[in-house]
Amino acid sequence: MEQRDQWATKIGLILAMAGNAIGLGNFWRFPYQLASNGGGAFMIPYFIALVFLGIPVMWIEWTTGRYGGKYGHGTIGPMFYLMARESLKPRTAMIFGIIGGMLAFSVASLLSSYYYQVIGWSAAYTYYSLTGAYFGKDTVQFFLDYVANTKAVIFFWGLTMLFLGIAVGQGVSKGIERWVKVMMPLLYVFAVLLVLRALTLGSPVKPEWSAIKGLEYIWKPDFQTLSQNFFRISLAAAGQIFFTLSLGMGIIHNYASYLGPEDDVALSGLATVSLNEFAEVILGGSLAIPIAFAYLGPEQAVKGGVGLAYMALPNVFANMPAGQIFGAMWFLLLWFAGFTSAIATYNYLVAMLEEDIHIERKVGTWLVFIFLFLLGLPVALDSTLAYLSELDMWVGSYFLVLLGLFDIIVAVWLFKPDNFWEELHKGAYIKVPEWYRPIMTIIAPLFMLFLLGGNTLDYIK
Ligand code: PHE
Repeated sequence: MEQRDQWATKIGLILAMAGNAIGLGNFWRFPYQLASNGGGAFMIPYFIALVFLGIPVMWIEWTTGRYGGKYGHGTIGPMFYLMARESLKPRTAMIFGIIGGMLAFSVASLLSSYYYQVIGWSAAYTYYSLTGAYFGKDTVQFFLDYVANTKAVIFFWGLTMLFLGIAVGQGVSKGIERWVKVMMPLLYVFAVLLVLRALTLGSPVKPEWSAIKGLEYIWKPDFQTLSQNFFRISLAAAGQIFFTLSLGMGIIHNYASYLGPEDDVALSGLATVSLNEFAEVILGGSLAIPIAFAYLGPEQAVKGGVGLAYMALPNVFANMPAGQIFGAMWFLLLWFAGFTSAIATYNYLVAMLEEDIHIERKVGTWLVFIFLFLLGLPVALDSTLAYLSELDMWVGSYFLVLLGLFDIIVAVWLFKPDNFWEELHKGAYIKVPEWYRPIMTIIAPLFMLFLLGGNTLDYIK
């Protein structure tokens, strides 16, 4: 068998995984989900989902991926088949492979159909910062006008896709590792600086607005709002954990498949979660919402919807010295953060063609390009963003959690809990405590069933 591509260095791998996880989910999606789901009401189920779903599923996906990679597979279909075979007849195991494979294919492509657009917005805002286009303007209106300008939207989105195609065409470690090593640390530094700036903002507009009020909105637990919309907010929070950690998409499996069979997954998986959560809760949480509270006011902040981050942040740049340069730098880094995540879904779809039906990588890359372009076109053409929001709600929450449920059914139950536990600890730098085992095997899947079931019932009602 041909030697599969492998990660060149440990730090390169961790950064690539962090690059995969840290993306627009942290800076664009987290704040808007938070604002649309009651702020302090959202944070309660968010942290619960992190501990009871996020960390377990992260370990499960790393383990599954490394296991599949050992047999030369990088996609969910064959991975699920191999694991399910431990307790099922090949034919029945195949059914799990097919369901998992189709689910991952749908999630990865539908997700990309709108996620790449939002990366395109960052490209546009890099340009508009440089030219100072939004300076001195109403930033909410500026955003609405931008998304209604379909020519510009398609241009910046198409440009982004072109870069993606080129990067993915080059292959895994060479393409990705080189870039993330520079850009990810830079993003962190920049985000910290921005947070410091954001949190010292009084409101130049109205004295009673301020960034600190935005922080209060996030960090004051709101049990009442939560109990009134329990299933909706809880699933949204769990969905955000999945989205931001890149779970339930197939792409962690895929990246982990490029590990050596004895490479640690336990500590590395945990490191990825930590790096991502710091970037999300501390950095992402301290930007868009506090800034929106200071400049746009609480009411607008809460109803900002998918555009929130792009409506809020430009205000900071428009009101600071050298704002054009800083603004351009920030949106470029954001573009890059989205880009390193998008590479993962793109690479997944190409890997499906390459490994599962033997289409050459170069050809597969451009077939995927055309497919994703067609799939994304209706998103680009809808200037109300209603379709995008709807997709993000269904794909970004419901379907991710559904695939996560399958992850556990296959990798833990069909593969058998003891096998799983042993596989997780192969070459591991840390030992996962025994008391955490039932959380991974029993509590997590029941929790997911409960959330999916409750929401389905709510929806039918
Ligand atoms: N974890 C990524 C993020 O937070 C999610 C993602 C990855 C979305 C790949 C799309 C494609 O942005």
